[in-house]
Amino acid sequence: MIERIAFAAQTPPIPFPKNFYWGIATAAYQIEGAWNEDGKGESIWDRFAHTPGKIKDGTNGDVACDSYHRWREDIALMKAMHLNSYRFSISWPRIQPSGSGKANQKGLDYYSRLVDALLEARIRPLVTLYHWDLPQTLEDAGGWTNRDLAGRFADYTDVVARALGDRVRDWCLLNEAISFTSEGYLEGVHAPGRNSIFDFLRATHVANLAQGAGFRALKAVRAQARVGSVFYMSACEPATDSEADRLAAERAHAFVNAWFLEPALLGRYPTPFSFNPAVLMRVHQDDMDLARAPLDFVGINYYTRRVVSATSWSERLTDAKFFFLPARMEDGRKGPKTDIGWEVWPRGLYDLVMRITHDYGRPVIEITESGCAYNDGPEPDGKLQDTRRIAYHQQHLAQLARAIGDGADVRGYHAWSLMDNFEWADGLSQRFGMVHVDYKTLKRTIKASGEWYGKIATENKLTSA
Ligand code: FCB
Repeated sequence: MIERIAFAAQTPPIPFPKNFYWGIATAAYQIEGAWNEDGKGESIWDRFAHTPGKIKDGTNGDVACDSYHRWREDIALMKAMHLNSYRFSISWPRIQPSGSGKANQKGLDYYSRLVDALLEARIRPLVTLYHWDLPQTLEDAGGWTNRDLAGRFADYTDVVARALGDRVRDWCLLNEAISFTSEGYLEGVHAPGRNSIFDFLRATHVANLAQGAGFRALKAVRAQARVGSVFYMSACEPATDSEADRLAAERAHAFVNAWFLEPALLGRYPTPFSFNPAVLMRVHQDDMDLARAPLDFVGINYYTRRVVSATSWSERLTDAKFFFLPARMEDGRKGPKTDIGWEVWPRGLYDLVMRITHDYGRPVIEITESGCAYNDGPEPDGKLQDTRRIAYHQQHLAQLARAIGDGADVRGYHAWSLMDNFEWADGLSQRFGMVHVDYKTLKRTIKASGEWYGKIATENKLTSA
């Protein structure tokens, strides 16, 4: 069935809960630029993007949107869009240039000013502590495969919580651990560009330990802080009704969606693999107690679904990937595609939110990212009519409203992203923003989607465009 929600003009408005967070998200490396200013250290993304051949269009984040200097303008944009939540991340190497020890005061001052200005604009700061820009020195010491990193992350968290915790209440520990471990340590397409299944498995465990350690560090500084973490999630749908495909889809779900959530909430790993990888992952006794983190909310990043089918024995024996995880995950092909090639599948958001609600005892959920790359440029009159982006968010919000109606406790939605920015290995070639950025002049222009989203936020109701 082709998933389309007809949003005819006469569709009645769908109300959202009182005090709902209408937010928007960014990440430090993707927008800040100023990669070597005010004492900032080198991150793995600086190193990776400066390595020829790693970024598709040869660009890097040295300047990006220059939000390090233009943050006042960026807050004004959010204010003009009537948003009440901004999810941004802190660059670890701005705070601890070589990953440990004394804080770089200028780095802390930058975020402190940002937080003050957000509060003044009545926008909630939702701070992500780690959105992929690990200090390079820590990678040189083994990066996410070195279990000492969990302690380093806790120390860094402590520094930030002490500096901002008097004003910031809501925190996200890690952004999409599945993405930075698999793309960075297994596929090698993201920083630090490693290619080893063993490194990858170890990195996932260290990330889980860091999540637990970071949680405790924050609560130790600010007992009243609301601490969550952000999980990439993809609706894993069986390709057919067969028992084998359904089992494969369950394995995919356990791995993609629960590998970092279940250790936090339940103190255990789910069981997606064909064998127990604990030895390969170097899981020590009592580690699962350390990984445990009773999160105050679950952050979900949703973009698309996976269609999952069973693998044959011969495939398992010839392809290491299927040997470990016997499930073939493919992109769906029924919905329209965004410019980055991801299938638009709004129904998956409903399914996932309901599944998490059901499986983990109705946790508080925030949608910490959802969005689409459409590279529409300005019309001759300078306006940006990104109607496909409006449709994307409208359809996803309609599914979210349905999940809320069916009992899910969802407190906020953050569109990815405030503005076009540096999209990792895709460089500046994919535009996800509700605000257009001219990379030559750095001029920002609110797109039609930004105007539309602002109207929804003001009314706290989803209406057609
Ligand atoms: C997510 C990342 C975010 C952005 C979007 C498009 O996986 O968290 O930084 O790149 O994808």
